[in-house]
Amino acid sequence: MTGRSGVEIFKTAEAAAARGAELFLSASREALASRGRFTVALSGGTSPIPLFRCLAARAPFAEVDWSAVHIFWVDERCVPPDHPESNFCLAQEHLLSKLPAPGAVIHRVAGELLPDEAARLYEAELSAIFSGAEIPVFDLLLLGVGSDGHTASLFPDMDLERFSERRAVAVYVEKLRSSRVTLTLPVLTSARRIIFLVTGSGKAGIIAKILGGSGEMHYPAARVAASENQVSWLLDRDAANWIENP
Ligand code: 6PG
Repeated sequence: MTGRSGVEIFKTAEAAAARGAELFLSASREALASRGRFTVALSGGTSPIPLFRCLAARAPFAEVDWSAVHIFWVDERCVPPDHPESNFCLAQEHLLSKLPAPGAVIHRVAGELLPDEAARLYEAELSAIFSGAEIPVFDLLLLGVGSDGHTASLFPDMDLERFSERRAVAVYVEKLRSSRVTLTLPVLTSARRIIFLVTGSGKAGIIAKILGGSGEMHYPAARVAASENQVSWLLDRDAANWIENP
């Protein structure tokens, strides 16, 4: 972990999520004040749900111009946007549909298309919004970690260097028997700020390896966390068991 990584441990997953919502809003205010917009990429899965809900509750009073907030996803399952597995559908249900009108600017991955086509279109959208920058620099990434050390849809058995020239790629995840579109390592490690929200006893093992071990750089989550930018780990006690019981 770099010197700019911070670990915060909370009694409950809800408390960790509330801190994540607070950091989301402070990052949005900083970006809007200094750059006139806020670009953020969300994760799917279950961990972000309490954060989405907390954000939705605070959004009407947050003094944020949501129409200048550009929402992307760090990954997406290759399913239609109304599919229960869709990360867009998850965010739409718990957050996006509850933002004050006119809401945020949504840049979803077209999961209904063939994976490679969806990835190419997503890259074109990234290029358009980030003015053709060599590597898009997000203001914030909201990341989870799988118990195998994956983050976004970058898994330990993948040769991540194979994607180093791409900004978003289609991958087939054998263990999940699922196609996904994911941001690549160069994009994930370039973000100004990264929040890992990791909760539950099922993540204690991987957290101990990533935060308590030698960094275990074959885990994609550890490689992202090695970013020179600001990385926050928001853990509940169950996930941080090794710290409290080394
Ligand atoms: C996804 C996510 C993925 C997630 C981890 C953790 O599409 O599933 O982007 O990277 O963050 O799998 O998932 P949980 O939060 O459900 O444990």
